[in-house]
Amino acid sequence: MSDKKPLRLGVNIDHVATIRNARGGDHPDPVRAAELAMSAGADGITAHLRGDRRHIRDDDMRRLKAEIPLPLNFEMAATAEMHMLASDVRPHACCIVPENREEKTTEGGLDVAGQETFIAPFVQSLGDLGVRVSLFVDPDARQIEAAKRVGAPVVEIHTGAYHEACLTTTNSKIKHELDLVRKAAAFAHSLGLEVHAGHGLTFHNVQPVAAIAEIVELNIGHFLIGEAVFMGLAESVKEMRRLMRDARTGGLY
Ligand code: PXP
Repeated sequence: MSDKKPLRLGVNIDHVATIRNARGGDHPDPVRAAELAMSAGADGITAHLRGDRRHIRDDDMRRLKAEIPLPLNFEMAATAEMHMLASDVRPHACCIVPENREEKTTEGGLDVAGQETFIAPFVQSLGDLGVRVSLFVDPDARQIEAAKRVGAPVVEIHTGAYHEACLTTTNSKIKHELDLVRKAAAFAHSLGLEVHAGHGLTFHNVQPVAAIAEIVELNIGHFLIGEAVFMGLAESVKEMRRLMRDARTGGLY
């Protein structure tokens, strides 16, 4: 286990903006949340600027980049509008996600295989701006191969189905979904891709994913912000970090 690479935590602060927007003012400020997350041990800040601006706004992205000295991971759909904003903000990384206006959250991975000729130049032009591009994909070898072909240096494996399986508490389902994530991580790594994972990770389900040696970054949002209501954001981030570290170094889970 000691040969495992360190595992980074990207804290997604979207839902601080969701609460702010419920009243239309400036409070709570997602940039302040990012500062707190940083002090508590976050390795990066992630924010999803959606087409409908339901949580994060353009100005939040600019302020996050200007005020937070951690790598900023800008989650976005592959649209001309988002490309323009990314070239303005110049985040450390962009994670390309599918976006559907009706969805409550990102429901599935990006269909890279089905739109390679569209995604390839998009990835290339963000790369030319010095942005590290990751593609958010289901744990599916076909999509991972396509991600490699379009020139993305990173894939983020969608752990939503694993999260759903954990809610059922049916061990065979959980094992099945976890095996898919494990195999996908190993396959992506074997192709030379950097491997991240995220979606639906909680204190209760993070450790088996954190123990997967090929995964070097987890992006976690909704649970951390939800738990912050009870224990505070700093404690919530610290506890997630502790669970990740224990899983990574072979602690019990
Ligand atoms: N990674 C990606 C690409 C996402 O779209 C999201 C949700 O915005 C997350 C990670 C974080 O998911 P959650 O909020 O369920 O932790």
